[in-house]
Amino acid sequence: MRVTVVTIFPQLIEQYLDASVLGRATQRSLLEVTVLDLRSYTDDPRRSIDDAPYGGGPGMLMMPEPVLRALADPRAVRPTIGLSPAGATFRQADAVELSQADGFTLVCGRYEGFDARIEDACDRLISIGDFVLAGGELAALAIIEATARLRTGVLGNEESAREESFALDQLLEYPQYTRPRVLDGHEVPEVLLSGNHEEVHRWRYAQRLVRTLQRRPDLIEARGGISPQEVELLHRYGYDEVLQTMNKERLER
Ligand code: 6GU
Repeated sequence: MRVTVVTIFPQLIEQYLDASVLGRATQRSLLEVTVLDLRSYTDDPRRSIDDAPYGGGPGMLMMPEPVLRALADPRAVRPTIGLSPAGATFRQADAVELSQADGFTLVCGRYEGFDARIEDACDRLISIGDFVLAGGELAALAIIEATARLRTGVLGNEESAREESFALDQLLEYPQYTRPRVLDGHEVPEVLLSGNHEEVHRWRYAQRLVRTLQRRPDLIEARGGISPQEVELLHRYGYDEVLQTMNKERLER
């Protein structure tokens, strides 16, 4: 997978890539990241990349020419993705889709935003969530990591199987424990020590439902609520309180 990043902070991108699991992927030729320094596409001695907005208003905009020149560089492989809090929210499904492409280019925004002609030159605009960062660099790293880890060989097989379970039923992961069995009075749940695999499996499923209901009711709603069998399972493990506090109209099937 070939990823090109257009940024005014090339070292930021390179240092993170070197220090993470992505560095190993790069060494093994599973990932090839090319960083284009936006300032090298400027044509004035000050190497300017921002300018004031027509019509007035606060802050500076990223000016179009340097970005458009960078995108004309043969190393800037399509699709071209602009990184902006005004983009569509990046989801796991987008990571899966991008991981299947040969490559893509990420344009990191800085300042108050892009000249709209930069947006027009991009195939799509992506945001990594409903909050505002000072620039697109962290978003670029998040997208590269989420995408590259789905490529064969970047992580182990165990990891990819877990991926599928999240993608299939849209529930959060169950809690996991390792030694010690008791830590400052906090014990590992008895069921995990029982050796009863069927019971462990049921308990984990109940835990996934509870956690998702408590932390991400939006995910429960998106999957069409919880079924009568799932309600029964939660009763069985004594989660009546969770069932009582949930919005039945929206969350029960
Ligand atoms: Cl892609 N850029 C910036 N500047 N802020 C963000 C973002 C992107 N995604 C969420 N917040």
